Amino acid sequence: MDLPLEKRIFHLTTDETSYLLFVNDFGHLENVYYGPKITLSEPYDLKEIEDLRRAPTLSTGTNVSYDEEKDPYFTLDWARLEVGTPGKGDFRGPSLLVEGDKGFVNDFRFVSSKNIVRNLDKEDLPYPLKFDESLQITLEDDMTGAIIVLRYLVYKKSNVIARDVVIKKGNYRLHKALSFNLDLPQKEYEVLSTYGAWGSEGHVATHELVPGVFSVKTQAGPSSNRHNPLTIVKTLGDNLENGLMYGFNLVYSGPFEMNFELTPDFRLRINGGINALMFYKDMKDAEGDFVTPWAVMTVTKRGQNGIKANFHQFVNKHIIRGRYQNKARPILINNWEGTYFNFTERKIHQFIKKGQELGFELFVLDDGWFVDRDSDYAGLGNFDVNKKKLPHGIDGLAKYAKKHGLKFGLWIEPEMVNEGSDTYNNYYEYVMQVEGFEPSKCRHQLCLDLRYREIQDYLINKISTLVKSANISYIKWDYNRPLSDFGTGNSDAGTFFYDYTVGLYRILREVMDLCPNVLFEGCASGGNRFDLGVLCYFPQIWASDCSDAIERIRIQSTLSLGYPQSTYSSHVTTSPNHQTLRRTSLTTRFAMAMLGVFGYELDITHLTPLEERQIKEQIAFYKEHRHLLLYGQLQEIKLNPIYNKRCFCVINPAKTESIVVFINEQVDILPHTLLIPSLGLDETRTYKITSNKQYSNIKDFGSLLKFVLPKHIKYDGFIINTLSKTHSAEEMTKNEVKLEQVVPGTLLNSGKVSLYPEWGGRGISDETSILGDFGAVYLHIKAID
Ligand code: GLA
Repeated sequence: MDLPLEKRIFHLTTDETSYLLFVNDFGHLENVYYGPKITLSEPYDLKEIEDLRRAPTLSTGTNVSYDEEKDPYFTLDWARLEVGTPGKGDFRGPSLLVEGDKGFVNDFRFVSSKNIVRNLDKEDLPYPLKFDESLQITLEDDMTGAIIVLRYLVYKKSNVIARDVVIKKGNYRLHKALSFNLDLPQKEYEVLSTYGAWGSEGHVATHELVPGVFSVKTQAGPSSNRHNPLTIVKTLGDNLENGLMYGFNLVYSGPFEMNFELTPDFRLRINGGINALMFYKDMKDAEGDFVTPWAVMTVTKRGQNGIKANFHQFVNKHIIRGRYQNKARPILINNWEGTYFNFTERKIHQFIKKGQELGFELFVLDDGWFVDRDSDYAGLGNFDVNKKKLPHGIDGLAKYAKKHGLKFGLWIEPEMVNEGSDTYNNYYEYVMQVEGFEPSKCRHQLCLDLRYREIQDYLINKISTLVKSANISYIKWDYNRPLSDFGTGNSDAGTFFYDYTVGLYRILREVMDLCPNVLFEGCASGGNRFDLGVLCYFPQIWASDCSDAIERIRIQSTLSLGYPQSTYSSHVTTSPNHQTLRRTSLTTRFAMAMLGVFGYELDITHLTPLEERQIKEQIAFYKEHRHLLLYGQLQEIKLNPIYNKRCFCVINPAKTESIVVFINEQVDILPHTLLIPSLGLDETRTYKITSNKQYSNIKDFGSLLKFVLPKHIKYDGFIINTLSKTHSAEEMTKNEVKLEQVVPGTLLNSGKVSLYPEWGGRGISDETSILGDFGAVYLHIKAID
């Protein structure tokens, strides 16, 4: 390379990280360093770069020398490359596979660079907004004639770098076009990935890498609940809380792959992007360049908490856009688990009236409001209201809500149809199917092929007209099945999923433009399409159809590895829970729901007076601390296992205020005195700690009550049953358990401040904490000086 050194080095830096690219002597673009921030000598010193890029061993034996005469030891298989391609000695999985008229040999080399990336708003795929710096590097492959542009966007404060690849139109065919390639040095690595299913989203798998390839892939149509593109790499032996960790994600909602290939000598190649299965693209006939989805990456020395801090800030500032970015979200009451399809206008009026009384801000009418929709067998694809159920229409309901001080929201599922619906009948040619064969159903419904402009325009028009037909301020956009029967006729089969996703994004973009004031919530049977692509349009997503607070611990904690709590909604539902039949207290349900976008989803017209009082208090508490709960830094704190509890906290940026939640997994016979773990709050301040008021159910004491009740009152009889609906055990025994204490910051941070001891069979007092299995207690901690 006869370029001066300063033209061969690209040092992308964020507040805490460095990404260093280098054009080697042959013109290949190498990533010689990605990690905590480093400073390079000025002017650049080649020796420093050589030290960083040094291969672990010199090329010998069966390695292919790229150019034996010039440097017999240089092999692409040892280089840390920005694009991995086959045919010249790199035997790791490629990130790009181009077939030219001479075959599959690719060799991309440096052509030029520019410190600017422009006009991203005009492109089909969403990108993270408001980057601080950008860079693009053009490479050319002499073998196939392919030209590619690698683009980089830098987000300084969030320590995130986004990257994609633009493949120019030309006389070749793409077989694989991943968004990024990163080769890390020799170490032992572990990958954290997620897996799940309907209702059971958000499991974390930790995979110790052995030489070979570990891939996380989905091909369900949406990004899916099976795996999330969010993946994390850590070095073995490094601690989850403090170690070196790399986080990756894609701004994409279609089938993806993330590959982690450990070489026999423990170097790691990571690449990811569009799932290459069923993918190809003829670039000769392409209308324009092919642009891959944006991939995002971060690195931190602070383990999971660092990954969370970086990705949360990044999502809140650069992914979420529009009116609800960084803004309060309304506290909603949704009727789904309260009524399912069985509601009448009268019932909805009761919901709204009660909603007003309890302090709600938004009423959401879920599935079942349109013609023929009395079950999930029919109706999808109709946009007209079912006048038998709702004689005054959606407009009438929205007005009723407004009259009672509530905003009004509605459920839709526009990408799907049931047979016999208006959309199905009028746009049958856009129902996904292989000509001549019956398409397979899922939840009795079929999918629309969103690749076509005509169906896109139809949906844009239907949805915006619906929204404007009444005072609607929220839409829950559902998507309840994966794709099948993706017949393509004569059109491009190799980019079916990509084109579907691009079509979807166009609909979303246009609908958002037409309805800028509406809050959209994504949903796909819960978390079947929870990704950064969707979040570029919908600021929040229903995380799971499982609303059980204990299951939600796992689901939300896993999501929180890469997504802030302002993106996943979480509702208080009834107990026993409909999905698990597990019983939990209202306090526990509230504690988990307030750690997401908060709402309720139960029949509020049938609450006991005690539940009503509690819900009012919960809503008031949430309103008071909404900003902290939605946008404070969420962390999970590992407690001593002896407590058998999970602990989450949100902390404000000034580190002067926090809400801490403890949830019991199983009660322990040894009565513990819980210590508040160190939260790292500002030590120069004094803090007031206030716990929630305890509401124990008198019936939970069972036959123990025999020993305290007068003889004529049965512990499991009518009187106790009735009283339990109006008073908590503490109220009946006049033992108000609500801890308040003032402590200096140093003491608080020492982790030695304790809560009341838990029930240990010694009777109840105003200092007895009663949690029981799955019980919860939460604290508000605030500096008062
Ligand atoms: C999906 C959603 C639920 C609810 C139903 C309605 O399952 O995830 O929240 O809206 O559809 O049919």
